[in-house]
This record gives sequence, structure tokens and C-alpha cells, in this order.
Amino acid sequence: MTAQVVASREDLEPGETLRLELDGPDGSLVEVALVRAEDGEYYAINDVCSHGQVSLSEGEVEGTTLECWLHGSTFDLRTGRPTGLPATRPVPTYPVTYDGDDVLVDVDVQINATLN
Ligand code: FES
Repeated sequence: MTAQVVASREDLEPGETLRLELDGPDGSLVEVALVRAEDGEYYAINDVCSHGQVSLSEGEVEGTTLECWLHGSTFDLRTGRPTGLPATRPVPTYPVTYDGDDVLVDVDVQINATLN
């Protein structure tokens, strides 16, 4: 599997999110929160909060962090690391690339798969 086109660059405004289901390894579906951070860049993070298994795409974007709507944990969109409790485990993030106006995500590559 390679990077998949998931959006056009102008589809989201900074601070907006979009929930995606992408084809993953072994034919599985991978739930992804596509986020346009306040720096204008797109980030892809697994849509499931590592604390309570709820959808992160329903959270709030601040800078380059995403805040879970349920208990307020914050995650760095660049690394998936939690930056605010109660979550202590990272959330997988995926590389985002651009091809012209297209935004591509590769869910075969987990950027922080080895973080603890
Ligand atoms: S479910 Fe996300 S912080 Fe608790």
C-alpha cells in the first residue's frame, strides 16, 4: 500500500478535522483524524483516543495539538505524544505528503509506533 489521496488542500480550514476510514495493511480499515492545524499544515493521527477509545476527530485543535473532547487529553499532532493528562500513551500518527493540491496519507507507516 502506498500513500492515498484523502483530500484537497483547501478542503479544511486551519483548526478543522475530518474523520476518514482508509485502507490499511491486510485489508483492514484504519480510522484516521485528518487535521489541518493552525500552522496551516495537514496532520494524520489515529482517530481513537488512547485513553478512552473515543473519536479524536471530534476534538478541538489548538496550534499543533488536538484535544480529546471527552476528558481533555491533548496530543501533539506531529508525534502523537500525549501532552496533557489523563492520556499517557501516544496515538499513532501517519505521514502526510502533498502532490499539487492533493493531500496524501500513508497509513502503512506509523510514525510513533515505537514510542512508549
Ligand atoms: S477518552 Fe480521550 S481523554 Fe479520556
